[in-house]
Amino acid sequence: MHTFQPISIDLLEFNPFTKIGKEWALITSGSKNAANCMTISWGGVGVLWGKNVVFLFVRDSRYTKEFIDQNDFFSLTFLDESHREALNYCGSHSGREGDKIKAAGLSLGFRHGIPYIDEGNLVLLCQKMSATRITEDSFLAPDIKEKWYKDNDMHTMYVAEIIDIAAR
Ligand SMILES: Cc1cc2nc3c(=O)[nH]c(=O)nc-3n(C[C@H](O)[C@H](O)[C@H](O)COP(=O)(O)O)c2cc1C
Repeated sequence: MHTFQPISIDLLEFNPFTKIGKEWALITSGSKNAANCMTISWGGVGVLWGKNVVFLFVRDSRYTKEFIDQNDFFSLTFLDESHREALNYCGSHSGREGDKIKAAGLSLGFRHGIPYIDEGNLVLLCQKMSATRITEDSFLAPDIKEKWYKDNDMHTMYVAEIIDIAAR
């Protein structure tokens, strides 16, 4: 497999609805000593506070959230369809139960000291800008609480600057 090459954001072809919503991604955070990842399919990309950003939603209960909160950086890795099983695994098992990256047949790479999933074909390296816990009082549509937060496992919205992109 070719090694990752940096690519300019101006050349990135990225449909967020298919890439995030349908193909899914792995958010990875931590250090060389300890890192964890999980599958995400909610979020987006855009421009905020003068930066190119991603925004993602991570529930209170996720072990990955502890790594995101303890580190300034995280990555988003996109993988091709042959890794669907690994994406399902990382979206249904917790790193609290053991080394799930290994168990899913994946491995870590590091870029600028930020962990990512080496089996991917596109990696967004991100630096946190804000963390906002979404609370019930912010919902305007009537069914959100009932549909998504019956158990009060709320999301924190992270907005993070895309500081580098690598692809192969
Ligand atoms: C397709 C898919 C998409 C998911 N998207 C999200 C998401 O956007 N936010 C979130 O908090 N959890 C999401 N999850 C659930 C987490 O990936 C799952 O709870 C995972 O086991 C958490 O692992 P951890 O405890 O090691 O962090 C998704 C799961 C799947 C299968």
